[in-house]
Amino acid sequence: MISSYPHLIDLNDYPVSWWNDVVELGEKIKNNPEIYSGACHNKIMATLFYEPSTRTQMSFQTAMLRLGGRLIGFDNPANSSVSKGETLKDTTKIVSNYADILVMRHPVAGAAKAAALSADCPVINAGDSGHLHPTQTLTDLLTLKCEKGRLDNLTIGLCGDLINGRTVHSLLKAMSCYSGNKFILISTPELKLPSYVKDILTASGCPFKEVSTLEEVLPELDVLYMTRIQQERFASREEYLAQKDTYILTTKKLKLAKPDLIILHPLPRVDEIEIAVDEDPRAMYFNQAKYGMYVRMALIITMLDLDSKTTLLRGKVVKGASCKNPNCITCSESYLPKSFITIGETMLECEYCNERLLLR
Ligand code: NCD
Repeated sequence: MISSYPHLIDLNDYPVSWWNDVVELGEKIKNNPEIYSGACHNKIMATLFYEPSTRTQMSFQTAMLRLGGRLIGFDNPANSSVSKGETLKDTTKIVSNYADILVMRHPVAGAAKAAALSADCPVINAGDSGHLHPTQTLTDLLTLKCEKGRLDNLTIGLCGDLINGRTVHSLLKAMSCYSGNKFILISTPELKLPSYVKDILTASGCPFKEVSTLEEVLPELDVLYMTRIQQERFASREEYLAQKDTYILTTKKLKLAKPDLIILHPLPRVDEIEIAVDEDPRAMYFNQAKYGMYVRMALIITMLDLDSKTTLLRGKVVKGASCKNPNCITCSESYLPKSFITIGETMLECEYCNERLLLR
């Protein structure tokens, strides 16, 4: 299915040259923000946040205000018609007639893609469950470009909740498109990276390895991407408690690391980075959040200027097949076409959440 609007659901829907252009514009805006202060005059952005957020929501809002635009939206669906049982389709249809651009965060995988199917303006995915978070990745790319001077030939360690961390999934998918990058995946067996992301790394030819302790790999890293254990995505509190506090970055452990390491974290931090680490010049997570505002300014300008169409569904509805992921948007919004991509002879991949199922 083709939409007549440009959407940002997954960065990999656009070529690497496009990401580079957005990042380059973000850097220009950072260096000269006043030049862009009227770029979105008379434009309205709607932020529909069905899930809590501080940085992503506020940096999008500040980005639009700094571009001279205006805002509508909600950050608590209980205060909107969603609480009366309105479908995602109807909410999107209405709001996209009021606004020029729509930014959506949702606790269900594939929600932004589902919203884009019925939207009458561009939709930006600001995080869909544990699935994807493309604008955090643009933030990470701008941070790496400005702080490491390059996006290639980096050894990147990603530590923590790799199964539920949508920022990790989007970042790996993006960084595997630049040459010479190596990935070290640091997690417990329970929190390992989903296999569909590992398959993308394998297909890209970027080497990666999985380890269980931070100390064993810290000396080789150029970038350490810490993440919190995502309490809200666990089936039970016991399962969360069993994982909590497994990885804590301390000033003592940092003695093992390179002097030019940079430490990133999408934030919020719980306790996976000791507060004393904030004083270390290698701690870059607060600057990273600021880069996020500049790159979102660049993204809004780009999306509002883009005169293009987006291919939203490439696959097909397969008779009798439905997604088995209970947290897929096709389970809660039953009108959606259950579209799948065929993988090899025996597998189907849900186009909304990337969950795979075996064909009988
Ligand atoms: C992350 C998110 O919401 O996915 N934060 C963010 O967007 N800056 C990470 C998290 O919630 O742990």
